[in-house]
Amino acid sequence: MEDKIGAMRAEALEQVDAAQTAADLEAVRIAYLGRKGLLPEIMKGLRDVPPEQRAAVGQAANSFKEALAAALAAKTAALTRGTLPSAPAFDPTLPGTVHPRGSRHPVSLVIEEAVRIFARLGFTVAEGPDIETGYRNFDALNTPDYHPSLSEQDTFWLQPDLLLRTQTSPVQIRVMEQQPPPIRIITPGRCYRRDTTDATHSANFHQIEGLYVDTEVSLADLKGTLAYFARQMMGPGVQVRFRPHFFPFTEPSVECDFSCHVCGGKGCRVCKHSGWIEIAGAGMVDPRVFAKVGYDAEQVCGYAFGMGIERIAMIKYGIPDIRMLYENDLRFLAQFR
Ligand code: PHE
Repeated sequence: MEDKIGAMRAEALEQVDAAQTAADLEAVRIAYLGRKGLLPEIMKGLRDVPPEQRAAVGQAANSFKEALAAALAAKTAALTRGTLPSAPAFDPTLPGTVHPRGSRHPVSLVIEEAVRIFARLGFTVAEGPDIETGYRNFDALNTPDYHPSLSEQDTFWLQPDLLLRTQTSPVQIRVMEQQPPPIRIITPGRCYRRDTTDATHSANFHQIEGLYVDTEVSLADLKGTLAYFARQMMGPGVQVRFRPHFFPFTEPSVECDFSCHVCGGKGCRVCKHSGWIEIAGAGMVDPRVFAKVGYDAEQVCGYAFGMGIERIAMIKYGIPDIRMLYENDLRFLAQFR
């Protein structure tokens, strides 16, 4: 009886060894360990074994059972790992996992392009915090508390002297406080105003500020710079116009409009049917601002400008509503791939 079990054991283990698939293994398992398999059969037959042999036969059967179970488990693991030469380890014809490519946000695209264009004119990038002091956002920019321009731009105040900056102009102050002239910087960043959202306004938008300070800087330089920027950003067909304006921190001041690319200047909702879109405020830095940062206004002069990035993105890409820039609708964003 013991010899019979030994032979059966050898054969069973050989079958496990030869198995190629999980189904082969399952067949071996059923043949030996299944309810009607050979091993339960042997166990049942134990009672007919002479008592003096019973222990040895029982032991042989049990050890066979354990060895077979272990061999089956090991082989199953090997098959699923695909380590057998005959197992299909890697199928190069299966389609791969698709990872869709993301895209840059149009606001980022415009900022990056503006930085590249101004870099060609020698401008470097400076940055400042979104939370500003009232001093840098207003006072140092020659805008005292009682100034009428304060009522034009409703401000998110956080504390008596801290606010969410309403413009990127306070970065001008930060840079001039820290370094002597000459200065040639642009500063892209977020701005906040208590504006009611509509097709062209948002309470949170982006500007690019520019500041050029040296000994001989003229309004003509400012015009040339903004016209160059407009053509580089929008293409040679863009029209640029300057209108006299007022800002507390520049004198004289201008506003700069680009012709509307959504309608080609004919008039539409985006340009409020005027054919023009206001892009930038600009002017020659007011001597009082130089005085605030300790520059000698007799020695230096300069120009500054601040442009709305969303406005540029809207006319560059023909976006009819500023809110599309903030909704994060993938059908919209994926078009900027
Ligand atoms: N800060 C002004 C605004 O937000 C724009 C501006 C910048 C005007 C620099 C003049 C000079 O409207």
